[in-house]
Amino acid sequence: MVNLLFIGDVVGDAGVECVAQALPALRAEYDIHFVVCNGENSHEGRGINEVICRRLHKAGVDVITGGDHSFDKHLIFPYMAKTNTLLRPMNYPKGTPGFGYGIFKLWDDIQICVLNLRGNTFFNNPIICPFFMADRVLQDVGHYAQVFFVDFHAEASAEKQALAWYLDGRVSALCGTHTHVQTADERILPMGTGYLTDVGFTGAHHSVIGMDTQTAINRFRLQTPQRYRLGEGEYRLHAAIFQMDETTGQTVAIQRLSLPIALDYTAQPVERETY
Ligand SMILES: [Fe+2]
Ligand SMILES: [Fe+2]
Repeated sequence: MVNLLFIGDVVGDAGVECVAQALPALRAEYDIHFVVCNGENSHEGRGINEVICRRLHKAGVDVITGGDHSFDKHLIFPYMAKTNTLLRPMNYPKGTPGFGYGIFKLWDDIQICVLNLRGNTFFNNPIICPFFMADRVLQDVGHYAQVFFVDFHAEASAEKQALAWYLDGRVSALCGTHTHVQTADERILPMGTGYLTDVGFTGAHHSVIGMDTQTAINRFRLQTPQRYRLGEGEYRLHAAIFQMDETTGQTVAIQRLSLPIALDYTAQPVERETY
């Protein structure tokens, strides 16, 4: 059995610190073989940089996935273009830097493919159809991996469910990210694909999906740009463990985690505005 830990969107320094602090013990406690972590918000809430990638890998993360914020810090582009342990959604147009999937060795003869896709619904920049792209990747490289994990970064729960049903029996598990709110609907579809609509985020729980509460209130109530500030307090790591059978490629069990992390941390204001 392959125990894969998937950590939801890491928000800011505090989120990275939560992973650094909790992951070594989690790996041991749950006998984790492979760790995937969504890092699209790890650099001050938007984007990622190379230093953060190294910190996450040092903590025990094998593969970092992304989403709509993968490209917010352009200095990461050269690193992204040469490193398949930092993925961005596969279905961005040709010419976008980086890799959308990676195949990694678990054990002798057992490989895992991690695929990152982004949804189209409720995003204002439609990209290549994720259904089409999933088909293409499965057709091209599906046979190289015994275990296949998808991070589907999407807003609409219906789009996430639909893609999971479309891929049922063809991927081991599909887990949603992007909403930053963990859903309680983990299930194994009839052909063996494990599914969770959203794994939640990692960072300040005392926040609005990671953002400082007053900033978020002002943003919605006043409808004007606000100085960007991350939340602070009651830090939490949200994740899910997918237990997958490498002989069948199917998920056999899913366990959600919502772990309070004792963190001594003060958020720093960021010199830019929300939009
Ligand atoms: Fe996110
Ligand atoms: Fe996102």
